[in-house]
Amino acid sequence: MASKIKTIGVLTSGGDAPGMNAAIRAVVRGAISQGMNVKGIYQGYKGLLNGEIADLTARSVSDTISKGGTMLYTARSMEFRTPEGQQKAADILRENGIEGLVVIGGDGSFAGAGRLAKLGINTIGVPGTIDLDIACTEYTIGFDTAVNTAMEAIDKVRDTSTSHERCSIIEVMGRNAGYIALWCGIANGAEDVLLPESYDYDEQKLINNIIELRKRGKKHHIIINAEGIGHSSSMARRIEAATGVETRATILGHMQRGGSPTCRDRVFGSMMGAYAADLLAEGKSDRVVGYRDGTWVDYDITEALEMQKSIPDYMVRVAKALSI
Ligand code: F6P
Repeated sequence: MASKIKTIGVLTSGGDAPGMNAAIRAVVRGAISQGMNVKGIYQGYKGLLNGEIADLTARSVSDTISKGGTMLYTARSMEFRTPEGQQKAADILRENGIEGLVVIGGDGSFAGAGRLAKLGINTIGVPGTIDLDIACTEYTIGFDTAVNTAMEAIDKVRDTSTSHERCSIIEVMGRNAGYIALWCGIANGAEDVLLPESYDYDEQKLINNIIELRKRGKKHHIIINAEGIGHSSSMARRIEAATGVETRATILGHMQRGGSPTCRDRVFGSMMGAYAADLLAEGKSDRVVGYRDGTWVDYDITEALEMQKSIPDYMVRVAKALSI
């Protein structure tokens, strides 16, 4: 079936995530397969407002599927948050003959995509963020690579922590969401996991747990702290003073966003990117791609942004139960 539109654009926005390149490649090749032309927009919405636009061919995305980061670069734009900025962006897209746009990013990027859809540009969002914090989807591109990178780093900290019989507070990314922390808590066998969604800021409880587990023969005490809680260094100082157990803080930081994407992120990037190109070929707009109950789905952007997601209670209980 011939595509309803001739030319589409693709951009990445917000924090980069491993697997974004797989998604860009899938948008480009999926669209070309259906007879559309594709333009790459560099540096997200900021680049769009500066007219940073170039043609992409099937060859432009060769050798990118295994690379971390985003070949289109990414940025945050204050100007695009204003109605004037959004109108200017829609005008620039039209001047460049771009009738459809795929935005790969997180919730903030989708809000902008929704605005462009209202201004007549067929727009589709693809969830790309290491945080796993997009409510309409069970998976976001980048999470698997990031959580594996964090897990491997925490294993290393754990080795030295055990040798010195120390307590280690390891801070992982996730903005206001605790998914990376929770998964690492289980995968690394942490003694405590602090999640923004459930932490009660009762440090005495942590202190008591360290003392109790020492008595039970634990050689180290790993606390995974989510970025949304933060303050790992001062927490470490207070815990050391209260328990007498040497305590160190490690903030993993941006290393969690880099590196070659795992198989899961390459496959999800490819499937979600291709799905977005299919939606545009069918003439759809104002949709976000998601993954639910084993299949790829799409939702209205406004409805998707209103959805809520909560951290799985049972996983939190299991993390605690296994830490004894
Ligand atoms: O959303 C991805 C993320 O890495 C968050 O986990 C983190 O809070 C934020 O981006 C960091 O942003 P920046 O790279 O701008 O410091």
